[in-house]
Amino acid sequence: MRQQIAAANWKMNLTLQQGEELIDKVLNAGLTLKEQQSVLFAVPFPYLPMTRQKLGGKPGYFACAQNCYDKKSGAYTGEVSAEMLKSIGIAYAVLGHSERREYFKETNEMLASKIDLCLENGIRPVFCCGESLHVRESGNQNRFVEIQLRESLFHLTPEDLKKIIIAYEPIWAIGTGKTATTAQAQDMHAYLRLVLQDHYGKELADSMPILYGGSVKVSNAHELFSSPDVDGGLIGGASLVAEDFIEIIRSLK
Ligand code: PGA
Repeated sequence: MRQQIAAANWKMNLTLQQGEELIDKVLNAGLTLKEQQSVLFAVPFPYLPMTRQKLGGKPGYFACAQNCYDKKSGAYTGEVSAEMLKSIGIAYAVLGHSERREYFKETNEMLASKIDLCLENGIRPVFCCGESLHVRESGNQNRFVEIQLRESLFHLTPEDLKKIIIAYEPIWAIGTGKTATTAQAQDMHAYLRLVLQDHYGKELADSMPILYGGSVKVSNAHELFSSPDVDGGLIGGASLVAEDFIEIIRSLK
């Protein structure tokens, strides 16, 4: 079975102490992850060492960055490079979240560079894609998301593409309480797998985890994750409440 992932995206929330408490609660919940299941905590940069330390040695649990810069190093005050993340033992990074695309003007091209830098440093990207409400209402969502994939990922060798985790997050569902229906999520995931298959072949397309994100909650996680092409979720709001995130982890295939 493909890797099944519950990824918490804390965004710019929680103090260090609140974060520590949350991770402790999740670790003490008595969960037993199956071999194919992983849990990621995408936390603010300053909390990465704490997160890594708490999760250290627990199979299936990983600290994850929420971003990195698209340059290797140099005079970029305030930015964090992929190499820096590697040097503190981080193996996953969320890239291209729609909030970063919108507020920080990240383009598909910039994201292609970030993807390359992460891969060069042994970091697996969780690559976010997804359309706005306007695009969805005009019926062009498949084409729109396909271009995001093509422009940021399709320069990769099959070997490198294999390391990518895709997160489909329709922007109209993020933080709005309005979740895509299970059918909408499944349709898009199946379409993305076809796009990957056209370019890289069926075996590789079938092996790649595609997560759904956008108002995943306890009440809808099980149904969403049980779709054949939905391999878990990227979870914002509900990942800030330990009890909810624990239930969401329990909903993984
Ligand atoms: P949400 O956020 O679960 O709060 O909708 C998801 C995300 O932005 O990754």
